[in-house]
Amino acid sequence: MTDTLLRGRVLTFHQEPAGPEDTDAYSYIEDGGVLMRDGLIVASGDYESVAAGAGDATLIDHRPYLLMAGFIDTHIHFPQVQIVASWGSQLLDWLNGYTFPAEAEYANAQHARAMAGRFCNLLTDHGTTTAVAFCSVHAASAEALFSEADDRNMRMIAGKTMMDRNAPDAVLDTAQSGYDDSKALIERWHGTGRAAYAITPRFAITSTPEQLEMSGALAAEHPGCYIQTHLSENHDEIAYTATLYPQALDYLDVYESNGLLGPRTLLGHAIHLKDREIGAMAETGAHPVFCPTSNLFLGSGLFDDAGLRARSIQNGIATDIGAGTSYSMLQTLNEGYKILQLQDQKLHTLRAFHWITRGNAEVLGMANKIGTLDAGTEADIVVINARATAAMDVRMERAESLSDELFVVQMMGDDRAIAQTYVSGVPQKKETT
Ligand code: GUN
Ligand code: ZN
Repeated sequence: MTDTLLRGRVLTFHQEPAGPEDTDAYSYIEDGGVLMRDGLIVASGDYESVAAGAGDATLIDHRPYLLMAGFIDTHIHFPQVQIVASWGSQLLDWLNGYTFPAEAEYANAQHARAMAGRFCNLLTDHGTTTAVAFCSVHAASAEALFSEADDRNMRMIAGKTMMDRNAPDAVLDTAQSGYDDSKALIERWHGTGRAAYAITPRFAITSTPEQLEMSGALAAEHPGCYIQTHLSENHDEIAYTATLYPQALDYLDVYESNGLLGPRTLLGHAIHLKDREIGAMAETGAHPVFCPTSNLFLGSGLFDDAGLRARSIQNGIATDIGAGTSYSMLQTLNEGYKILQLQDQKLHTLRAFHWITRGNAEVLGMANKIGTLDAGTEADIVVINARATAAMDVRMERAESLSDELFVVQMMGDDRAIAQTYVSGVPQKKETT
């Protein structure tokens, strides 16, 4: 396989920028190069020096576009692709009215496989190269998504959802079958190619205490796996959970008391939290995941990013399709910025772009593999055009700095701003530029 050399304006992060002046936190090279071989980045830096060691590599010139690490979405529901933008309700009614019926269709392996292809296309069209995905309750849905991602050498963290009560029969497993199916999927997929498994009890309401106990057993038996679930998204959800788990200290304790909290645990939403819960997250290293477009769409509430960060908690950020309304991590940052504005919290654009790349990689404990353009990491790369639309183009005439440009991309960009996406070094978008 011949090497590929990308030329463009290169931006990569070394740590979270403390603010706009924190130039130690990132490298920005006006005329940069990234050399890719066998799915990995073998060199990146200024173009002349990378090109000098690139031999007869195929050159793809992306100037004047920006090259960055591919985006990482740390919470998304694969079987919800056909219910994005479903009108009218808040969380529990939305789940019953739209979500469970749509997820029931993923018992059909052919449907799951067809949707998995479209799902992965949507991710890469929007610049997302790694996702942490909920599948449906059916093992076939996880099998379909892992197979599809594997065919593309795409990094995918996913799990079959476990849910054994408070939903229609068509989307229920049992504590035992949820355990058995998850275990078989872990054995088949965890560590296969670029796949990793996430043990996935949907949330407290749809799992019996027996199922959460068996989820904890799975986690103890497979400490390398991730754990993903939902926490404190909506007031009715929290009140219902309290009636189902009367002994629990609070919502988080339902998971904590079953051994489900640790640095590989991702807790979707985490909006309405008690002080004890925040302390427990800090102590265990579990990660809240901010889902801005979803939280606004379902009217769930405002995520307290600064409050959690002040307690040394590292938050992920994600789309939460299909309650989320965009696959774009740029649009996710756009709405995230506004949610923080409502609380007088500031999200600087350099921190924002760090968050959807290296920051989310750190949340996943994978910053040595994805999220940067460092040599030795995986060649998942986005090419960004800050003038992709007429509105962006006219605004960019007044952009005076890299931060200005990035903020325009963050607030106005979507899939149109993604000129190309490379997954394991292979271009995914049809129209190369
Ligand atoms: N809580 C439990 N399941 C879900 C889901 O599918 N989406 C959202 N937004 N919240 C949930
Ligand atoms: Zn979710």
